[in-house]
Amino acid sequence: MKYFHTVLYLTVLVSILIGCNSEQPTNILNSNASIDSTGALSGGDTTIFDASSHAFSIPAPNLSAAALEKHLEGDVEFEAVFVTAPAVVNPGLGPIYNNVSCINCHSRDGRGRPPGVNEGLVSLLLRLSLPKNDNMADGKPPIPVPGYGRQLNNRAIVGTPAEGTVKIEYSEQPLTTEDGTRVHLRYPNYTITNTYHPLPENVEVSPRVAPVVFGLGLLEAIPESTILTYADEIDVNGDGISGKPNYVWDVVKKRYALGRFGWKANQPTLLQQVASAYHDDMGVTTSLFLIENSAGQPQLTENRTTPEVSDEILDVVTFYVQTLAVPARRNVDDPQVMHGEQLFAQAQCASCHIPTLRTGVLSGVPSVSNQTIHPYTDLLLHDMGHGLADNRPDFHASGTEWRTPPLWGIGLVRTVNGHTNFLHDGRARNLMEAILWHGGEAEKSRQAVLEMSKAERDALIAFLESL
Ligand code: HEC
Ligand code: HEC
Repeated sequence: MKYFHTVLYLTVLVSILIGCNSEQPTNILNSNASIDSTGALSGGDTTIFDASSHAFSIPAPNLSAAALEKHLEGDVEFEAVFVTAPAVVNPGLGPIYNNVSCINCHSRDGRGRPPGVNEGLVSLLLRLSLPKNDNMADGKPPIPVPGYGRQLNNRAIVGTPAEGTVKIEYSEQPLTTEDGTRVHLRYPNYTITNTYHPLPENVEVSPRVAPVVFGLGLLEAIPESTILTYADEIDVNGDGISGKPNYVWDVVKKRYALGRFGWKANQPTLLQQVASAYHDDMGVTTSLFLIENSAGQPQLTENRTTPEVSDEILDVVTFYVQTLAVPARRNVDDPQVMHGEQLFAQAQCASCHIPTLRTGVLSGVPSVSNQTIHPYTDLLLHDMGHGLADNRPDFHASGTEWRTPPLWGIGLVRTVNGHTNFLHDGRARNLMEAILWHGGEAEKSRQAVLEMSKAERDALIAFLESL
């Protein structure tokens, strides 16, 4: 179905190109590069022109036939629903878990949201840990909580206790812009109830919603040296923005490596991110994480020596998230959008949300290699102030630091996922609220937005909607 869609699109583009100039060779890849003068090709040659509710779920158009086949195999596994072992298809769920499939959290390969009133958790999870000395980011992994590990698993297979239930309450904070516009920001408060085992008073809790999963191979292909050129940990250039790399444990290479994925850049590679998702979120073991996430807890059913998901499946699912296309920008020559783009630069947003980067070579994934892309991220950690803090350090990320999320496709979240909940815990109900939560290193940017006229704020949002 998705494949058909892409083929259809390619056919349309080819016919347009032929229509324009039948003399020209119709090499789509080259023509994409040459028509990117406006920055509309967010994913380079992996860009697709689709603004529908499927916009995040389309394979990169430049995959070879064999690569496309692998991608589609990964697609099936991404949607596979796991069940309690023993079973013929997809056994191995739990015993404790958060959800039963990847797609249940990353709905339509898009982003999750906090639950609505009287709704259970679906695509938001809580990471847990015990405090370190002075809450410092010491470069070490978070300390697991006895009986819980590093994540609250709020569901369990039949006959097994889940770890607890989460209740979220919001309090409203009023805020007034320079021109007198009143805005309300909602601040979440989490309570963990129905715990199966006493939870220490001083537990640290970090709520996180599921991010979008397209374009990730491109982010993995950005050379480490490029990312480090944007790092300015002690703010040598004095612009108030530092940018710090996270270094996290790579379980395959058995050494520390640059963190790129997750809200705190706490995962070094997509392979490890995917294996952790199986393990932490679904209770499914792989060769990277062979011991069940319930190890050391009463829910542990048996200790396994063979992984519940094979290396082949792990490989195709990793390939799937490496090769999902990035939707093209829309309305790039609309005067309001162009004005918004200038304001985005003037307000220093682009110091963290870097508009243009060049990928290097990602081994085995030529479609994402050597691409000029517009992700609007530096993949670095920034102190975002106390308002957004989770106060839970993660390797080198302190309790106030978060990784700059990519902004590509953000204008399509409403169409794909039917909501506009942004930031790591989905507290922002629209793009303007997300901006007004910025603090710390981004405080000057926030001030600039508060001082804008209504027309300027509208232009800034129109620009974000075009991404
Ligand atoms: C319970 C919900 C849930 C399930 C199930 C889940 N994820 Fe996620 N996923 C998340 C959350 C939350 C994050 C962010 C984690 C963090 O910041 O620590 C995430 C992060 C990711 C990322 C990194 C995205 C980025 O931009 O950094 C990838 C890739 C990913 N998940 C893939 C998968 C795959 C593949 C599966 C199935 C094997 C899966 N997820 C299952 C919730 C989920
Ligand atoms: C100092 C670096 C920095 C600057 C400057 C900055 N941002 Fe961000 N931005 C971040 C980080 C980090 C987050 C994630 C914070 C979180 O989730 O708690 C974020 C989140 C966002 C989000 C929500 C993204 C999502 O996926 O939920 C939007 C939208 C956004 N920024 C837009 C802007 C705009 C517009 C400006 C300028 C007015 C700006 N940012 C300035 C670092 C920055």
